[in-house]
Amino acid sequence: MGFKVHKLYLIFLLCQALLVVSIVHQARAAKSHDHDNLFTGSWVIDPSYPLYESSTCPFIDPEFNCQKYGRPDKHYLKYSWKPDSGSIPRFDGVEFLNTWRGKKILFVGDSLSLNMWESLSCMIHASVPNANTSYSRKNSTVTFKDYGVTIHLHRTPYLVDIIREDDGQVLTLDSIKGGKAWLGMDMLIFNTWHWWVHTGKHQGWDYIRDGSNLVKNMDRLDAFQKGLTTWAQWVDQNVDPNKTKVFFQGISPIHAKGQEWNQPNKTCSGEQEPLPGSTYPAGLPPAATIVNNVLNKMKSPVFLLDITLLSQLRKDAHPSAYSGDHPGNDCSHWCLPGLPDTWNQLLYAALTI
Ligand SMILES: *[C@@H]1O[C@H](CO)[C@@H](O)[C@H](O)[C@H]1NC(C)=O
Ligand SMILES: *[C@@H]1O[C@H](CO)[C@@H](O)[C@H](O)[C@H]1NC(C)=O
Ligand SMILES: *[C@@H]1O[C@H](CO)[C@@H](O)[C@H](O)[C@H]1NC(C)=O
Ligand SMILES: *[C@@H]1O[C@H](CO)[C@@H](O)[C@H](O)[C@H]1NC(C)=O
Repeated sequence: MGFKVHKLYLIFLLCQALLVVSIVHQARAAKSHDHDNLFTGSWVIDPSYPLYESSTCPFIDPEFNCQKYGRPDKHYLKYSWKPDSGSIPRFDGVEFLNTWRGKKILFVGDSLSLNMWESLSCMIHASVPNANTSYSRKNSTVTFKDYGVTIHLHRTPYLVDIIREDDGQVLTLDSIKGGKAWLGMDMLIFNTWHWWVHTGKHQGWDYIRDGSNLVKNMDRLDAFQKGLTTWAQWVDQNVDPNKTKVFFQGISPIHAKGQEWNQPNKTCSGEQEPLPGSTYPAGLPPAATIVNNVLNKMKSPVFLLDITLLSQLRKDAHPSAYSGDHPGNDCSHWCLPGLPDTWNQLLYAALTI
């Protein structure tokens, strides 16, 4: 008898344990499901797009102002991102300003951060065209004064430090003193990648310091992984998740090589349509895998704006030759209005789920 009770009790405990495991599992599944819902999908025509006109936004740099600089087609302005199930909320700038009243938002990274900073400022401005703003391109600040909302940009392409040493400029993989400029913010949106692969005159350093070694060069993905890990540790140690929301803007793709989408002779130049469906023939770039791995090991709840695939589909959305007075064919930045508006809509969606 005693044995039977004991056995029943064990079965009872086992059932409870299974129930807990299943609840935790369901909660995890729901979380990753929400995430997938936002970032897997396809591009569809939406006649109500774009969200603003380039001529009415005071914050667009010439290099992103494709319509002003002669881009002849407008079809690329009409696409909206449709997640596989559901849709993303329509951006409401007034609601955004009320929610973030009195708060400071900072974009940190390279010119893809600049692209996204100008986009968000334009989107908000379109909702409150008569609001009092102060804008300094030089100081990289837009303030919506009636709401006390300030949106800053801190341009620092590697996130980790470049330190002047006797031998020259040294990209120092384990140093992030620049991070003191990111303290005290209410929202931080980081990005880094494009500058890690530059060589020749676009390479931003003379040497890399990797631990105690000073090297002339090293595997760039390896360097990126180490630098990003330094950033992740900085966030874990310095950001209070109760005070500051942290986002990482995923890897923004480049469309310079048509073989990636099975049109070997093409670049972004003259492209007027996104790729259909939700797969990119070349697959994800290795840097995106590194971002996933580093973010997965963090203690802080950093939200990955996983924009890589949806942006890979937009070979039509780059400035190409209509990039201000720049010569050449820009297949790495994005026209405004345009794709970065979707990145900001997803940021807005992530803040509301
Ligand atoms: C702009 O500021 C002025 C002076 O403070 C104020 O009277 C006006 O209502 C503000 N405009 C808006 C749209 O809030
Ligand atoms: C830019 O920053 C400097 C130094 O903080 C400040 O003196 C100046 O007023 C700012 N300019 C604008 C237009 O905000
Ligand atoms: C954040 O807030 C929660 C709930 O109020 C609290 O338990 C936790 O200790 C706080 N975390 C930090 C880092 O202050
Ligand atoms: C690409 O260009 C090469 C050289 O101009 C040409 O021989 C080839 O047929 C082109 N391929 C396609 C798919 O257009």
